[in-house]
Amino acid sequence: MKILVIGSGGREHALAWKMSKSQTVSKIYCAPGNAGTAQIAQNVEIQAENIPALLEFALKEKIDLTVVGPEGPLAKGIVDEFQKQGQKIFGPTKAAAMIESSKIYAKELMKKTGVPTAGYRIISNIDEAIEFAQNHEKTVVKADGLAAGKGVFVCSTKQEMLAAANMFLQEKIFGETSGKIIIEEFLEGEEASVLAFCDGDTAKLMVPSQDHKRAFDGDNGPNTGGMGAYAPTPIVPEKMQKEIEREIFLPVLLELKKRQTPFTGVLYAGLMISKEKPFVLEFNARFGDPETQAILPLLETDLVKIMLSCTNKTLAGQKIEWNKKTAACVVIASGGYPQNFEKGKTISGLNEAGKIDGAIVFHAGTKKENGKIVSNGGRVLGVTAIAGTVFESVQKAYNAVEKISFEKMQYRKDIGWRAISKTTIEKEKIRTLINHRRNRLSPHEIREKKQGHPRKTL
Ligand code: AMP
Ligand code: GLY
Repeated sequence: MKILVIGSGGREHALAWKMSKSQTVSKIYCAPGNAGTAQIAQNVEIQAENIPALLEFALKEKIDLTVVGPEGPLAKGIVDEFQKQGQKIFGPTKAAAMIESSKIYAKELMKKTGVPTAGYRIISNIDEAIEFAQNHEKTVVKADGLAAGKGVFVCSTKQEMLAAANMFLQEKIFGETSGKIIIEEFLEGEEASVLAFCDGDTAKLMVPSQDHKRAFDGDNGPNTGGMGAYAPTPIVPEKMQKEIEREIFLPVLLELKKRQTPFTGVLYAGLMISKEKPFVLEFNARFGDPETQAILPLLETDLVKIMLSCTNKTLAGQKIEWNKKTAACVVIASGGYPQNFEKGKTISGLNEAGKIDGAIVFHAGTKKENGKIVSNGGRVLGVTAIAGTVFESVQKAYNAVEKISFEKMQYRKDIGWRAISKTTIEKEKIRTLINHRRNRLSPHEIREKKQGHPRKTL
C-alpha cells in the first residue's frame, strides 16, 4: 500500500514511523514532513492545508490511504474533497470535525448528549459577561473557533474574566469569528487525554495519556502545544476508561450519526478528572501532539489495519493490543517558545540519542540544510522512551535528551512528575533528579563555557 501522511510535526513523524512497520505498506509520503519523516518516507513539498494540491498528488500517485495529522485541513474539509474523488482517507468530514473547530458546537453537543462538562454560558456581548461574573469568581473564557491553543484564558478574578471577554468580543483578537464566546466554570483537578479510534459507531480507546501544556516546570508559564506526555496515566484507571467510553464517546458517536455526520478517525477527549469523575474540557478531531509520540510506541497491532477498519466501518471486530509497558515523551523546543524563537540552529547528538535502547527521537520542527539537521519551528523534537514504569521511561527519555544539543534549546525537566509523585518509593528520587536535570549544562552550554561565554538562562 502507498500511504500519504499530511502534516509536519512530531505526531506525523510518529504516525509515519508506526505505519512504516506495517507489512502491508510499500511506500510512505509525507506532506510536507520534516527531517525525521525524510528518513522513513518521501517528503513532498505541499503544505498541509493546500487541499487541491494534496488531492492531485494522491490521485497521481495512486495513494491507497491518506492520514491527516493536524486539525486545519480537517476543518477545511479535506476528507470530504478526497471522498468525492473516491480516495480513502482517515479522518472526520468537515461537519464531524466541528466538534473541534467550534467550541460552541461541542458544548451544545455535550449538553444534548449529557456528556459531563463544566457549566457554561454562550455570550455575544459584554453585558452578558458582566451578568455571568455576578455568580462566578474563577472562570475560563474560550474563543469559538480554532486558535492553536491560544483561545483560552483561565481567569482567577471577575476583572480578568471581563478583560478576556473584552479582548475576544470588542478587540476581536482572532478577527471576525462567530462573534460569540464561551465562559465556563473553572474545574479543579488533573487533566488527561483519552483518544479513541472511531468508525462512526464504535469507539476503541487508546491507552490514556497525560500532556504537559505549560511551558515551564511545575506547570508554570504560558500554554503551549504540549511539552511532553506519558502513557498510560494512572489517573484514568481501567474502570474509569469504561465509564468514559460509555458516557462520553458512545453518546457523542450516536448523536453525530443521528445528525448524519458520523465521526470516523480519532476522537480526542481532553478531560479534567475532578473528584475522580471525568469532565470533558474539549474535543479534538485528530491525534494529539505530543500524546501520539507516547501512545503509538505502545501499540502492538498494525496501525494501518486499525485505520482501515475505521474507514471500512469494521472496527468492532478489530482487536487492538497494547504493550503493558510505559512510554514517556520529552519535547525539546526552541528557546523562547511559545513566544518568539529563532530557527536554523544546528542540532547535534541525534544519533547518540537514538542509540539508547528503547529511545526514539521523533522530529517536529526540523529540516535538513547543507547536510545538517537544523531547527525549523517552536517544538523541535520529541524524545520518547519505553520502559517498565513511568519513572523508568522518563529517566531513559532524559538520558537520550541529554545527548542532544542546539543553541538555546529548552525543555521541561519534570515530565511525568504528577504520576511519579503518586508512588511513594519514587517521590524522593524524582525530587533529586529534577534538581539534577535543572542544574546540568547541555553539551552546547559546556562548549560555550569552554569558549568563555556565560551560561544563558531560559
Ligand atoms: P481547552 O482548549 O478547552 O482544552 O483549554 C485549554 C486549557 O485550559 C486546558 O488544557 C485546561 O488547562 C484549561 N481549561 C479549559 N477549560 C477549563 C475548565 N473549565 N476548568 C479548568 N481549566 C480549564
Ligand atoms: N496536546 C494537545 C493537543 O494535541 O491538542
